[in-house]
Amino acid sequence: MNILIIGNGAREYAIARALKRDPNCGKIFFAPGNGATDRLGENIAITDFDSLANFAIANNVKLTIVGGEEPLTKGIADIFRAKNLAIFGPSAAAAQLEGSKAFMKNFLSRHKIPTARYLETSDLRAAREFIQSLAPPIVVKADGLCAGKGVIIAQTYEDAKSAAEEMLSGAAFGEAGRKVVVEEFLDGYELSVFAITDGADFVILPSCQDHKRLLTGDLGPNTGGMGAYSPTPLADLALMSKISTRIVRPTIDGMRKEGAPFTGVLFCGIMVVNNEPIVLEFNVRFGDPECEALMALLDSPATELFYNAAIGNLAVVAPRFKGAAVGVVIASENYPYKASEPREITIAEGAESEDSYILFAGVTKGAKGELLATGGRVMVAIGTGKNIRAARDRAYDLIGKITFEGMQYRTDIAYQALK
Ligand code: AMP
Ligand code: GLY
Repeated sequence: MNILIIGNGAREYAIARALKRDPNCGKIFFAPGNGATDRLGENIAITDFDSLANFAIANNVKLTIVGGEEPLTKGIADIFRAKNLAIFGPSAAAAQLEGSKAFMKNFLSRHKIPTARYLETSDLRAAREFIQSLAPPIVVKADGLCAGKGVIIAQTYEDAKSAAEEMLSGAAFGEAGRKVVVEEFLDGYELSVFAITDGADFVILPSCQDHKRLLTGDLGPNTGGMGAYSPTPLADLALMSKISTRIVRPTIDGMRKEGAPFTGVLFCGIMVVNNEPIVLEFNVRFGDPECEALMALLDSPATELFYNAAIGNLAVVAPRFKGAAVGVVIASENYPYKASEPREITIAEGAESEDSYILFAGVTKGAKGELLATGGRVMVAIGTGKNIRAARDRAYDLIGKITFEGMQYRTDIAYQALK
C-alpha cells in the first residue's frame, strides 16, 4: 500500500517509521517532508490540495495521512474524499473542533460534556463583565488558530481585560482574535488523550503527558511541547473510562448527529481536577511530540489501523501497544522566540538502536549532504523500554551522542511519572 503523508515534522516522521515496520506498507511519499524524511520515502513539493489528490491517483496512493491541523481546517480531506481517496483526517466542518474555540465550547455545552465555565463573545464590554465575575487567574483565548499562542492566562483582572481588548481589536492575532473565549482557570494536571475514530467506532490510545514549557522544572514560555511520554501512571483505568464515556463517546456521537462526522484522530486536551476529567481543548490531529511516543509503542500493523479508520471500518481493528516510551524534543538555540542560524548536526556512529532512535523535524540537507539544524524543533530523541524509567534513560543516553551548537532540551521529561 503506497501512502502519502502531509507534513514535515517529527510527528510525520514517527508515523512513517511505524508504517515502515508493517510489511503491508509500500512506498511512502511526504508532502513536503523535511531534510531527513527521504530516509523513509520520497519528498514531493506539491502543496495545493487538488494537485496532491491527483498525485495520489497517479501514484497508486491508497491512503493519505494528514499530520497537522492547517490543511484539515482548509478542507484537504473534503477534496480527497470527493475523489474517492482514503484519507486519515476530518473534514473542514469537523475540524472546527480545533479551528474555532467558540464552536468547540458551544458544542461541548450543547452535549453536556465537561469543560471550564466560559463566555464566547466579540464584544469587549461583555468580555470585561464576565472577566470581573471570575476569580483570577483568568483564561482568555482567541477563537481561531494562532499556532499555539492564542491562550493568555492572566493573573489579574487588568491583564485579562487588556488581553481581551488586544485580541478583539485585531492587534494581537488579527482576524483569529476578533472573537474570544473567556474562561475560568482550572487547577489540576494535564493529560493528552487520543481517540482514533472512523466517525462511529473509536479506539483510545495509551495515555500521554506532554511538557509544554520550554525549560526544565516547567519554567519559561509555553511551546508546542518539549517532550512526552506514554503511558502515564497519572491516568488509571477508572479515569480513562470516564474520559471515554463522558468525553470521547458523546463527542463522536454528537459530531455525527450534527452532520459533521469526525474521522481521524481526536486529541482531547484534558485537565484532571479532583480526579474528574475536564476538556481544555480538542485538536483534530495527533499531538507533537505525543504522537512520537505513541508510534513507538504501536505493536500491531500501522497500515491496518490508519487505513481502516480512514475507510469507516475501524470495528475490525484492535491495535496493540507495548511497553513505555519517552520522547525528548531537541530544539535550536532561539526556540521558541525566533529562528536560529543553521548548525551542522553530529550524531555519533552507532548512536541509535532498536530501543532508542531519532525522529527528525527541522532539518535540511547541506551542500555536502550533511544534516543541518534549521528549524525551531529540530528532532525528537525516543527511548523505549519496559517502563518509563528505562525508556527515559535510553532517550537521554541517545541525546548524549547528538551535538549541534546551541541545542537545547529539557532534562526532566517524564518527571511526573517518576516522582
Ligand atoms: P489550549 O490551546 O486551549 O489547550 O490552551 C493551551 C494551554 O493553556 C493548555 O494546555 C493549558 O496548559 C492552558 N489552559 C488553557 N485553558 C485553561 C484553563 N481553563 N485553565 C487552566 N489552564 C488552561
Ligand atoms: N503537543 C501539543 C500539541 O501538539 O498541540
